Amino acid sequence: MTDPITARRNGEVLIIVSNNPPVNALGQAVRSGLKREIEAGLADDAVKAIVVRCDGRTFFAGADITEFGKAPQGPSLLETLDAMEASDKPVVAAIHGTALGGGCEVALACHYRVAVPSAKIGLPEVKLGLIPGAAGTQRLPRLVGAEAALPLVVGGDPISASKAESIGLIDAIVGEDSLEADAVAFARAKIGQPVPRASEGTKNQDGVRDPDIFDRFRASQARKIRGFDAPNAAIEAVKAAGELSYAEGVKRERDLFLKLMGGTQSAAMRHYFFAERAANKIDDVPADTPILPIRKVGVIGAGTMGGGIAMNFLTAGIPVTILEMQQDALDRGTGTIRKNYDATAKRGRMTADGVEQAMGRLTPTLDYADLADCDLVIEAVYEAMDVKKEVFAKLDEVAKQGAILATNTSYLDVDEIARATSRPGYVLGLHFFSPANVMKLLEIVRGKETRADVLATAMKLAKTIGKVAVVAGVCHGFIGNRMLSPRQQQANALILEGANYWDVDDVLLEFGFPMGPFQMADLAGIDIGWHRDPSRVETIREALCAKGRFGQKNGKGFYDYDEARNRTPSEETKAIVAEFAAREGKPQRAVSKEEIRERLLYPMMNEGAMILEEGMAQRASDIDVVWINGYGWPLYTGGPMFWADTIGLKTVVEGLERHGLPVSNYLRRKAEAGETFNR
Ligand code: 3HC
Repeated sequence: MTDPITARRNGEVLIIVSNNPPVNALGQAVRSGLKREIEAGLADDAVKAIVVRCDGRTFFAGADITEFGKAPQGPSLLETLDAMEASDKPVVAAIHGTALGGGCEVALACHYRVAVPSAKIGLPEVKLGLIPGAAGTQRLPRLVGAEAALPLVVGGDPISASKAESIGLIDAIVGEDSLEADAVAFARAKIGQPVPRASEGTKNQDGVRDPDIFDRFRASQARKIRGFDAPNAAIEAVKAAGELSYAEGVKRERDLFLKLMGGTQSAAMRHYFFAERAANKIDDVPADTPILPIRKVGVIGAGTMGGGIAMNFLTAGIPVTILEMQQDALDRGTGTIRKNYDATAKRGRMTADGVEQAMGRLTPTLDYADLADCDLVIEAVYEAMDVKKEVFAKLDEVAKQGAILATNTSYLDVDEIARATSRPGYVLGLHFFSPANVMKLLEIVRGKETRADVLATAMKLAKTIGKVAVVAGVCHGFIGNRMLSPRQQQANALILEGANYWDVDDVLLEFGFPMGPFQMADLAGIDIGWHRDPSRVETIREALCAKGRFGQKNGKGFYDYDEARNRTPSEETKAIVAEFAAREGKPQRAVSKEEIRERLLYPMMNEGAMILEEGMAQRASDIDVVWINGYGWPLYTGGPMFWADTIGLKTVVEGLERHGLPVSNYLRRKAEAGETFNR
């Protein structure tokens, strides 16, 4: 293997360059090369200044995550960086791409940082269930202050070069195309001057003067960080930077880092990091499959779903023609899109100009013929097979040759829909999740005849519009809804057996979901799809509607809501559930939270096993990606399949058997063989 680190001289300036594609991760070879060249540069009297930069698409994007969980191999980054920072020779980090995690820590240990305008800098370790482990939590607050450091260390989102400059994280923005030359000139200008060291900075005194900033910040993030270990450790480490000496602070950081690294949350989140990237790959579609150009998109249906889908493309700069049957529906739909954009602008996430530009890309129409020049048409009409088939037959007549025709169906047979056209190879499912302009997940449903280039194009397009895409096969409910179904069945069964419906919700909430099924029903509206005849009551939902309990929208559904939308269990709902239980002759008993948890979650894993066995998902980790991005499954457990692996498939099988629930052959076989889904 060639050495990833090389060095060369430009006069008195030593330029150390890393070339470790794809992202210059700081693996063992990079660390030892850096150590070697830095030591050589510091020892060489002819070298008066040093520049550290990277070849390829990015500055160091962090530690090499594939090394995590294995026995650590020296040299440690920390020691090399401390020695470098201690020197009197100015060291300049020359940043392009993304200086993340350990990469940001390299930059922090340099005396100066210069970056190109497009660079991004951040400490995303929390997203892997970790905190920075090479003194990032100690240098950053000393350099920029605790208040400015907290969002970076605890939130993990990178910031732009200009934002980094404004908080003092970088010293200068240099030319996009002249990084090395500008960095060398910068370094040369600093020769002979005393060097600033982040570890000696005093900006962190803001947190000593006003220690409340830590609690205030924690409270402001409460919803986002609920259940996660790393953000609290990150706050503790930043706080320690103000309270302890640099050396002691680094020790505290190390202790916190190692504890997190050995825990289940980080293992789960690292699994997810690679799962999300694996989901991008379609096993039998080569990476170099040609991509079809998508310059214009058609959307059929301007309801909530169609409008949300359209917004994805409009925001990404792709023109959209949106079709409805009636003018008033079309006007309502485009009105809602504008309202949503205006709300985004009001929250400061978009400029007024941006809104106009996005709206300017939208063409409303009542005429199918206007879809003729679209490269992709997505149908989002009423969920009924005959309606969908009619739409696709019409589309087949007007769409140009080579256009991709997609259905947003949640459950229906994509192959049957494809057969309504003369070009099933160009048909696939693009299953967006509501609200479609917000939710990250996109299930790409692969029909029997869907062509490889159509799939590859859909995958690429998903990235363009900021979605996390997963390929699913054609089956009822695909991956996500198919697994939701047994959970919902159990939720309904449990409350008829005597479980409190709020306990069912609370179990999921305690597990880490944002809400349970009955809260969800209240939020979505109990009356969705209701026949509006109060005298016809066959289900609990119909009984709730008959009593005017429509959900959060009118302050009462399964729960009663106050002005602030706080929920309390309702006596009326309890009576309705009890009446149904009596009607069905269900004996009542107390049901433990443990039983609720097992009965809600284990059948999902069983369904996941069947999905895998039938080849409806390519890999177990794809199922995890679906549930984390589409259904609020807590990231820190790694998704349903990884969680099943963590607790053991045998435990899942025993639980299912204990509750008299079905166990698939695939799950049983794997459990008996002592195997896991993912590893
Ligand atoms: N270690 C190992 N592999 C990595 C990696 C890393 N830090 N970062 C990316 N990769 C791999 C990916 O798995 C992917 O591999 P694949 O092609 O086989 O699937 C490949 O590099 C390209 O990555 P992406 O597909 O994500 O490329 P993008 O261009 O979309 O994104 C990126 C680039 C923004 C750098 C993104 O990869 C990223 O966010 N990486 C992780 C950054 C990170 O979390 N760094 C912190 C690590 S922890 C740390 O540094 C601890 C320290 O404090 C001690």
